[in-house]
Amino acid sequence: MSELAVWNCAQLVTLAGPPRPRVGSEMRELAIVPDGAMLIREGCIQAVGSRAGMERVVSADAEIVDAGGRIVLPGFVDAHTHPVFAGTRAAEFEERTEGATYAEIAARGGGIRSTVRLTRQASEAELLVAARRYRAWFLRGGTTTIEAKSGYGLSLEAELKILRVIRQLATDGRLRCVPTFLGAHEVPNEYRCRLDAYADLVVHEMLPRVAAERLAEYCDVFCEPTVFPAAQARVILSAARDMGFGLRIHADQFTADAGALLAAELGAATADHLEATGPAGLEALRAAGVQPVLLPASVYHLGSSRYPAARQMIDLGLPVMLATDFNPGSSPTASMPMVLSLASTQMKMTPAESITATTINAAYSLGRGGQIGSLEPGKFADFAIHDCGDYRELAYFFGREPAWAVYVGGTCVYNPPHF
Ligand code: NIG
Ligand code: FE
Repeated sequence: MSELAVWNCAQLVTLAGPPRPRVGSEMRELAIVPDGAMLIREGCIQAVGSRAGMERVVSADAEIVDAGGRIVLPGFVDAHTHPVFAGTRAAEFEERTEGATYAEIAARGGGIRSTVRLTRQASEAELLVAARRYRAWFLRGGTTTIEAKSGYGLSLEAELKILRVIRQLATDGRLRCVPTFLGAHEVPNEYRCRLDAYADLVVHEMLPRVAAERLAEYCDVFCEPTVFPAAQARVILSAARDMGFGLRIHADQFTADAGALLAAELGAATADHLEATGPAGLEALRAAGVQPVLLPASVYHLGSSRYPAARQMIDLGLPVMLATDFNPGSSPTASMPMVLSLASTQMKMTPAESITATTINAAYSLGRGGQIGSLEPGKFADFAIHDCGDYRELAYFFGREPAWAVYVGGTCVYNPPHF
């Protein structure tokens, strides 16, 4: 039986606690074991404790991973990403530095639709090569699970192609992927001014195929008056729910409150973005038990200063989560440490709250709270050794990737040369 002992952890940040998303002051409780150690058997956590206590239970032939006095955390769970696309939008980025807005660029056929043009032309093999490159970026930041959305195909075949790439990306087990179908990310050019016809295509052709081929667990819609207004988003998401998909919604990124209200009405797992959400929307999320997913890197990259009201959400008792929103338009970063920095400096979340928001709370939103998101016996041994002596340094040092080594299911998946 393969046994691994992780030793010499300045802080073993376990996140052990009640088996549910953490709220309010619980978000500051990380259940840290100083000078900690962890025992892993067959890819799962067997025991966690102080080094002194663990010395007694480790067998003589266990493989030792010496954390070297660094911190050890659960792998980050990035519960909102768009990792499969062709090309970049560096040219549009340059235009934005010169004054064009994201909305103006989208209105003239750029934005999501420009990435759709390139992604439709790309082969599955080409998309997989690009996605593997981005996967290395996730790992480098200490992420071990991503939620991965389609949404740059917007036709039956192109959406299936993207979802197959997501499936392929996960097969070797280096990064866990939870697939989400986002066929309603934008209205493609051939359906311009025929929104209802496109919604019909999503409901009657795309969703049934995605369900039949088991290519996604969740369905998402970009709910915004100028993209999919609440009426059409409701039709698509209700159909998805009836077919067994969990629901996530791009809600209130630019306009309040329809997205949050719809997420609450439909009992979605998450409402994501929420930059524009007001008190009514927040109260609806709370009452319905919907988890808010905050994406500060997209606010930053769009040059906006309208960050979501994280403090208000935590005070209301919402189980807040943070994610990268990795995508080529609004958030070209796969770095959770960058997100932690933004959460602290721009939204006044404490480093501990941010860590809870990127691990255990995110795991619960994906229906995997019993398997990942904390370092507790019985869970998968998904963890990262970070080159820090204190967990607060993850949010404090910024512009670097602190992961020293990353493990998924007890197997090392990232271990760069250390100088
Ligand atoms: O979450 N808002 C919609 N979707 C993405 C942006 C996608 C893009 O610009 O390519 C987001 O920010
Ligand atoms: Fe997004």
